Amino acid sequence: MPQKPSETAPAARSPSAASSIPALLDLILDTHHVFARDALLRARECAEGISPADLQRDERLPKLQEAVAALDDEMLTHMHREEVMLFPVLRQMAASAEVDGVDMEIIRPPIECMEREHGFIDELLDYIRQLSDDFRPPAWAAPVHRELLEELAAFAADTVEHVRKENEILFPMALGLA
Ligand SMILES: [Fe+2]
Ligand SMILES: [Fe+2]
Repeated sequence: MPQKPSETAPAARSPSAASSIPALLDLILDTHHVFARDALLRARECAEGISPADLQRDERLPKLQEAVAALDDEMLTHMHREEVMLFPVLRQMAASAEVDGVDMEIIRPPIECMEREHGFIDELLDYIRQLSDDFRPPAWAAPVHRELLEELAAFAADTVEHVRKENEILFPMALGLA
């Protein structure tokens, strides 16, 4: 199982927001984004490795397979958008001496889009929790099934902190730059 990041994020709306933003972006990218890709890759491999006999044994398992694929697709697309669209702009604004209301209006829509996507990822995780009895394997679960639920539980726990850093620290700090 991938190691869970444990670093502490800078405080929100600190006086040095401009200098905190690049460090926070590096922290998010180097810990949560790396962890998420690793955990989702393993989860998808495990989900696809569940035997046909076990898929027939519990009708929720094929749905779980589909939900894991959807979660993987959604999260990878979301992180890619952050990495190539939003985060470089935030880094540029943090480095700029002059940030005004016009800049805020430029970053507000993509930030709101990322927040909506966080909500969708959260809904998918809730659905996965329902399908998997909150990541608890049945007594008959094969090792690959158990590993799938371990990876999903680890991903869900890390995503809580990942999304908290973005929604509650990074985005308010960026919107407070002007
Ligand atoms: Fe992220
Ligand atoms: Fe995000």
